[in-house]
Amino acid sequence: MKKLVIAVIASSILGAGLVAIGIGASDRAQAQTQGAAARRVPAGVRPPQTPAQNPACGGDGQPHCPLQQWMEDNVTPAVEAGDAAALGVALTKIATFAPDPSWNTGAVSWRGIAEAAAAKARAGDFRGARASCKQCHEAFRARYRTEFRTRPVPR
Ligand code: HEC
Repeated sequence: MKKLVIAVIASSILGAGLVAIGIGASDRAQAQTQGAAARRVPAGVRPPQTPAQNPACGGDGQPHCPLQQWMEDNVTPAVEAGDAAALGVALTKIATFAPDPSWNTGAVSWRGIAEAAAAKARAGDFRGARASCKQCHEAFRARYRTEFRTRPVPR
């Protein structure tokens, strides 16, 4: 009788142990499945982005975003033609495009960069005007894309 009781207790402890192991095993299996699913994302596919970072423009197979398109239509031809006067016209317009007035303040200002470059272009200094592209892109492009990418270009 005593032996039987011990056997029952032992087997229930063992059973509980097995259940515990079973739960642990299935959790592990699930975690591995999830991990595998995460790893299954093929190389070269970008991780999901928030809507602000992932507008319906500017990506592979998508139409250009408004300012991106404007630059390609208005600035690229002037640069490719080496046309300082046309570049001056484009830069004068860009100077009015800051999406937020605060971008026109301080030492590195949207309008400041574009107006200085427009003046150089009008004076025939094509190379000087050309330097503003990099200046503005470095200072503002990433931020513009994050915060204002789908904003229409002002007229
Ligand atoms: C005062 C700011 C400013 C100036 C000056 C400026 N750009 Fe841009 N440009 C931008 C911003 C912001 C974008 C990003 C637009 C987007 O991706 O939606 C951009 C995008 C572009 C694009 C589209 C492709 C890309 O790189 O994103 C081209 C082409 C371009 N600019 C050419 C030029 C050239 C050439 C000049 C100089 C002659 C110039 N830009 C000067 C702000 C500027």
